[in-house]
Amino acid sequence: MDNLWENAAATMSSSPQRFLPVSAALTAAGAALALAAPGGHWLPAALWHLVFAVGALPMILLAMGYFVPVLTRSRDAPRLLAAAPVAAMAAGIGIVGFFLHGTPALRLDAPWLALLAVGGFAVWIARRWKACMGHPNPCLGWYASALGLLALGLLAVAVSPYVPEQTRALRLFHLHINTLGFIGLTALGTLQVLLPTVAGRPDPDAATRLARDLKWSAGGALGVALGAAFAPPLALAAAVVYAWPLVRLMIHAWRTWRHEIVAAGSTLPLLAAALAGLILALGHGAIHANGIAAGAADIPFFVIGFLLPLVSGAAGHLLPVWLRPGLQNAWHRDGRRRLAYGARLRGALLLAGGLLAAAGQGAGYGLGVMCALWLVLSLIVVAVSRPPR
Ligand code: HEM
Repeated sequence: MDNLWENAAATMSSSPQRFLPVSAALTAAGAALALAAPGGHWLPAALWHLVFAVGALPMILLAMGYFVPVLTRSRDAPRLLAAAPVAAMAAGIGIVGFFLHGTPALRLDAPWLALLAVGGFAVWIARRWKACMGHPNPCLGWYASALGLLALGLLAVAVSPYVPEQTRALRLFHLHINTLGFIGLTALGTLQVLLPTVAGRPDPDAATRLARDLKWSAGGALGVALGAAFAPPLALAAAVVYAWPLVRLMIHAWRTWRHEIVAAGSTLPLLAAALAGLILALGHGAIHANGIAAGAADIPFFVIGFLLPLVSGAAGHLLPVWLRPGLQNAWHRDGRRRLAYGARLRGALLLAGGLLAAAGQGAGYGLGVMCALWLVLSLIVVAVSRPPR
């Protein structure tokens, strides 16, 4: 236990990345709660925001705080930057409070607080981009676009109380742009860098793909959100545009790392499952846009089939270095081995779980809860494990 305090002390005293393990565990725990909870009026919205706004949003800002210095070849993020994910989490807690208690002030203020946090963070990225010697890694464009789309999504729910006749349209815009735009683009940009890192083999085409595909992914996400809100045919066309670079990345990953994807010992099976899960969730989205399936089933599909394998795969590889940056030793290797344990099985269970949940089967939710708790427990086990003396 004293090692946990040692970690906590180290967490408070150094760069924001030390909050990442806690944020990843919060996202997974929130997912377990949201998937285990019964239906009801505002409860789903409250619990989905526990996952998306209290967990994933701060986690993604922290991850960007960790990766942006690498992408711009600049020094570590300043400690003060942690104020942005903390403010975003406060806004998330605020909106969960509104959904549970109906306090109007929380509904009106939370979106603006989140916008402030995202705006401040975007200024920091812009400054690092401007100060970068030469061109930054093109993944930076994905992060900037993801934040821009999130800002639009937050603005939609910030103004919707003042235009009640547009509440439904703005809600649909918000939920599509935040899931496919903000989380989707951050994930796709990061995966292009993370897949070769986890596979331990370089990917010479990654930078070209990142530079070429951003317009399709960002344009597709914006088109799906605008279409879902105002013109369904546009959403379908935009879904095809969004799927194009996604399917190409999936094919490239299978061709390049198929042996590692089906092998034990790394979290690559989980990252590959996340890619497949996003493609399937998008397909289900196109089906529900045609009224064949229930739109509400798409959120659990997105969480079980995409978000959980993504967080399990990324945190499973990066947690040791988040906790103990610098020289890698036996503790890091052992930590990764533990976090990668059962990665193939979990990847398959989460994909099956997502499909079952989309079909309205409770078993799908159960698989999601099980794998979310598995991730939380393994993060804790590694976080409290002792480094070699
Ligand atoms: C702190 C930031 C956020 C705030 C303040 C916020 C606020 C809101 C509000 C007010 C609604 C209800 C709109 C209505 O029905 O009038 C809503 C719905 C929704 N939001 Fe957010 N949101 C935030 C972040 C996110 C994020 C990051 C995501 C996903 C990545 C997200 C996904 C959703 C979804 C899926 C719904 C529909 C929930 C349902 O009706 O069951 N939100 N949000």
